[in-house]
Amino acid sequence: MKPVIVVHGGAGSIMKEYEEGYCSGVKRAALQGYKILAEGGDAVSAVEEAVVVLEDDPLFNAGHGSVLNEEGEVEMDAIIMDGKDLTSGAVSAVRCIANPIKLARLVMEKTDHMLLTCKGASLFAKAQGVPEIFGEQLITERSKERWRKNLNPGSNPVAYQLGLGTVGAVAIDSQGNVACATSTGGMTNKMVGRVGDTACIGSGGYANNSVGAVSTTGHGESIMKVTLASLILYYMEQGMSTEEAAEAGLNYMKTRVDGSGGVIVVNSTGDWTAKFSTKQMSWAAVKDDQLHYGIYTGENKIVPIAASPQ
Ligand code: GLY
Repeated sequence: MKPVIVVHGGAGSIMKEYEEGYCSGVKRAALQGYKILAEGGDAVSAVEEAVVVLEDDPLFNAGHGSVLNEEGEVEMDAIIMDGKDLTSGAVSAVRCIANPIKLARLVMEKTDHMLLTCKGASLFAKAQGVPEIFGEQLITERSKERWRKNLNPGSNPVAYQLGLGTVGAVAIDSQGNVACATSTGGMTNKMVGRVGDTACIGSGGYANNSVGAVSTTGHGESIMKVTLASLILYYMEQGMSTEEAAEAGLNYMKTRVDGSGGVIVVNSTGDWTAKFSTKQMSWAAVKDDQLHYGIYTGENKIVPIAASPQ
């Protein structure tokens, strides 16, 4: 099997001045994940590594750069899933850790559970030796500014949310195993304790070797209402291509609950797609040593990976 990785940096509306940063972030993440696959590494490690790159990039709404809750604090959700045996690990409403996706993987591999939240997740992180950082270290000027704007009565946090980037990755490795990973700071000015789609299996992501893997981004409550990742895999099981299934899932979410978002998909034969119903979504993919990327509908720029910044 030829390995494939697809990465997204969130669906929404990206201001012109940030477009280049979003594009270069997702390209770097895809290349980093692909390197693992090209060296014979597994899909779970590749998606985790790609998401770590984006959690560490302050431009994206995950890890450093996460949006703030109504009290001006960071609370993050993340999920990872292994399509080989359907094991998955997630964390929700976690604070004071740099890389929630790594903690989600530890939940998957070191516990009998699938989702740890809040204080329990923090105790587990400590027990696993995951370093605790000051919450302020995750906060950027940009997220503070958005938070302040949304404190005004009459503001629209959903609109602001869609301008920021939940991050995710899907991959298939040379053994034919698929995996997904998604990580987010959630929705800006959300209630304390609000958990979105990202931590919820079948909503923020799903991976099953017999069909493929999906990672989602967009309005979390809408994504949960239609369990978007599972819905797309169901359509694929019924015979749709990755592209048709992604389109059908996003259309269903729009018509049924008026929700917008984006998805990345890979199937069990290595076909892939990146689709969104918002104005933009930064995404990148690597297959056959070619790097694909785009930000607007229909855009698919292609360069050989040898010519890309590593
Ligand atoms: N899709 C990210 C969130 O709504 O939390």
